[in-house]
Amino acid sequence: VPDETERLEQSWIANSSAWCTAVRENLIESRREVTNAAIVDAILRREPRRVLDVGCGEGWLARELASRGIDVTGVDASEPLIEAANAMGGARYVHASYRDIIGDPSLLAGSFDVIAANFSLLDDRAGDLLRALRNVLAAGGHVIVQTIHPLVADSPYSDGWRTETFNSLPGDWPAPMPWYFRTLSSWHQLFTHAGYLVPEIQEPRRPNHPSPSSILFVLSVP
Ligand SMILES: C[S@@+](CC[C@H](N)C(=O)[O-])C[C@H]1O[C@@H](n2cnc3c(N)ncnc32)[C@H](O)[C@@H]1O
Repeated sequence: VPDETERLEQSWIANSSAWCTAVRENLIESRREVTNAAIVDAILRREPRRVLDVGCGEGWLARELASRGIDVTGVDASEPLIEAANAMGGARYVHASYRDIIGDPSLLAGSFDVIAANFSLLDDRAGDLLRALRNVLAAGGHVIVQTIHPLVADSPYSDGWRTETFNSLPGDWPAPMPWYFRTLSSWHQLFTHAGYLVPEIQEPRRPNHPSPSSILFVLSVP
């Protein structure tokens, strides 16, 4: 019987075609209006030469950064998404799961000035991954994590697995996605236990909108 993390990984294989359409046709309003710009700006402000895009999906962020002259590596466990990314080029793509990276971070051939994870830290073992990524982070580099704001998640306000059905998006989504909700203090604890400082938190939002569209953490190593 697959565990939640395996079902999470498998959902990104089963849903890959609907995901490619959603991203490439800009169907997700919060991405279009706020969160895409938020992650790009946060990365560019660090003026990186090399960036690792963790859980890169179909590669939009890697292409966006590569178009600005940055040397980008994307890594993802979904083979169809990595194929879709490769087909559009721009960056170097690696097909590997977080478990693979935890087992052997050198498969990523570091070192990176920025390591970005855009809505891709979705399981309960993210701490082991973040710890492993310190091996490929350049001295003075930053890890930038954008994720679902804890405020928007349904009750109860405590860590635990949730299910995303993608019902609000057009297209055919054959596999619901398990994802692990974390409270704000749990995110902070995750980062500090993995050996990071958290020098900056952003809450990107639409103008005149009552709640943030995401939360964005900037991490550094002491
Ligand atoms: C919401 S998508 C985001 C994709 C991309 N970062 C973007 O912003 O469009 C989440 C991505 O994380 C990847 N992912 C989730 N869990 C993973 C794991 N355990 N190992 C590798 N990739 C994983 C999925 O395959 C998927 O491509």
